[in-house]
Amino acid sequence: MENNPLLLTTDLNVHYGGIHALRNINIHVAKGEIVSVIGANGAGKSTLLKTISGVKEATSGKVLLDGQPMPRHSYQAVLRGVTLVPEGRRIFAPLSVKDNLMLGAYSRSDAAEIQKQMEMVFNLFPVLHERLSQPGGTLSGGEQQMLAVGRALMSQPRLLLLDEPSLGLAPMVIDTLLDTIVNLNETTGLTILLVEQNASLALEISHHAFVLETGEIRMEGKGSDLLDDPRIKESYLGMTSHQID
Ligand SMILES: Nc1ncnc2c1ncn2[C@@H]1O[C@H](COP(=O)(O)OP(=O)(O)O)[C@@H](O)[C@H]1O
Ligand SMILES: [Mg+2]
Repeated sequence: MENNPLLLTTDLNVHYGGIHALRNINIHVAKGEIVSVIGANGAGKSTLLKTISGVKEATSGKVLLDGQPMPRHSYQAVLRGVTLVPEGRRIFAPLSVKDNLMLGAYSRSDAAEIQKQMEMVFNLFPVLHERLSQPGGTLSGGEQQMLAVGRALMSQPRLLLLDEPSLGLAPMVIDTLLDTIVNLNETTGLTILLVEQNASLALEISHHAFVLETGEIRMEGKGSDLLDDPRIKESYLGMTSHQID
């Protein structure tokens, strides 16, 4: 394990009333890495990202950023540099692309910095620049996901949390989006924690990954190693034992 991970959770437990959604979760994300958590529907992926970003409170355990406990509220988490792109994008449909992006910059006050950041987002997602004054709700699903990521980047995060960015998108659109995420990581060194049901695409782009099953981490390893693991192939990549041999 990294000596000084950017993000560390220690024995994290999270409940919804009587439902024990996360059990003793210990994950680590090194600075500059893409790390993924893969798991089936209901495994606890969104709960994990919500807890890290202060949307949901843990019952016990810690979330540490650079060794310091994370604050309890999501707006404070953004100030600390942790920004969540929620499941289902949640852009503001009536607002223009530009206004959606500006909302992401609410924690920033330097106009020149905001402008610079917006140009960075346009470089990454040129289509957003072309659609600047169009209502967010009129964009395609893929463009809305780009807008959701762009909006998160406007807060200049140190750690970007992505909740199932591929959900509901066509394979070609997913490829473009993931290429951009890899490019972002490689060119800026931004640390990314991604959760996905789509295990193959997450593992392909991840330096390190964890497997979450019914609220518990069952396996972890290098993305490429997990892609080759027979248990992962059978349970998450839809391959039969015949195909694995
Ligand atoms: N607001 C909630 N109230 C009660 N139970 C919830 C709530 N949100 C999630 N859960 C439960 O917690 C578990 C994990 O859910 P979730 O984190 O959304 O999983 P995933 O994102 O992996 O699909 C599931 O059993 C789900 O039913
Ligand atoms: Mg989810």
